[in-house]
Amino acid sequence: MAPYGPGAPPPGGPGAPYPGGPGAPYPPGRPVRIPWIARTRAELRAALANAPHPIGFVPTMGALHAGHASLIARARAENPAVVISIFVNPTQFNERADFDKYPRTEAADLALAGAIGADVAFIPSVEEIYPAGFQTSVHVGGLTEPLEGAARPGHFDGVTTGVAILLGLVRADRAYFGQKDAQQLLVVRRMALDLGIGTEIVGCPIVREPDGLALSSRNTLLTPEQRAAAPVLRRALLAARGLWEGGERNGESLRAAMLGTLLKEPLATVDYVSCADPSTLQELTAISGPALLSMAVRFGSVRLIDNEPLA
Ligand code: PAJ
Repeated sequence: MAPYGPGAPPPGGPGAPYPGGPGAPYPPGRPVRIPWIARTRAELRAALANAPHPIGFVPTMGALHAGHASLIARARAENPAVVISIFVNPTQFNERADFDKYPRTEAADLALAGAIGADVAFIPSVEEIYPAGFQTSVHVGGLTEPLEGAARPGHFDGVTTGVAILLGLVRADRAYFGQKDAQQLLVVRRMALDLGIGTEIVGCPIVREPDGLALSSRNTLLTPEQRAAAPVLRRALLAARGLWEGGERNGESLRAAMLGTLLKEPLATVDYVSCADPSTLQELTAISGPALLSMAVRFGSVRLIDNEPLA
């Protein structure tokens, strides 16, 4: 069996554009560890041919930050081989402009992912994922209808179709998703169960800035004034959590508490606030078990989401 680990040969052989193998320096001579880069399905197959199992997989759209890093670190801790993907998936964007302005920072992403210990980075083109003639769509039912699904028609079909392809190509034992995108996590879990995809879907906690703002690639698009105002999402969630901890079990009261806090921030435009059943995402009136507080708020053209599980 060919070696897998530091010193393994790059898939393209000597002189390949990116010196390969986990631990290889990039560019040659510079002591920066970067993952083995695969840009095509065939290169991914080659990179994974000798990978030890279990394989941990972290799908991303790049512009990596400490939230992504926490997922990669968790995958690193739990698996001998770690794969990430960087793919800004066009089918999950509602507006072309949002797709176009999505931050793309590949070199920094590779340095961060490598430093945390990702072995392989799959960075396909749009054509590699959706080749000419592509005509399949994966649709998850009820769970995709409320909240983000209602606000962003077609978004989850794009997510599940893209993630199904990635899971099919990587065939990881475990895939790591953030609780930051709580509905996405539920929808992907449902899809993996329904389609018999043999990858365990692992949920990971939200990583926040010191002022409470959940890390997001979109945060970099905020103006300094908007950035200063953005922690209002966290304050709104904590206001509702405080009521819940004090015994409040009326869903409408918790939604009103979140809305009341958000409306005090003039730069914020509220898309929705929700207090829902965490397994069905249906809005709750009387709370008798766990609940999920969530919200989407716009600052100018930048849309932020956040949530807080109550259990
Ligand atoms: P992206 O927004 O890049 O996020 C990749 C993963 O990082 C997701 O599972 C997301 O929930 C997680 N994540 C983002 N911010 C986080 C934070 N502050 N704390 C913890 N985890 C966080 O989500 C996507 O990409 C795409 O929809 C994708 C799943 C890759 C499919 O295209």
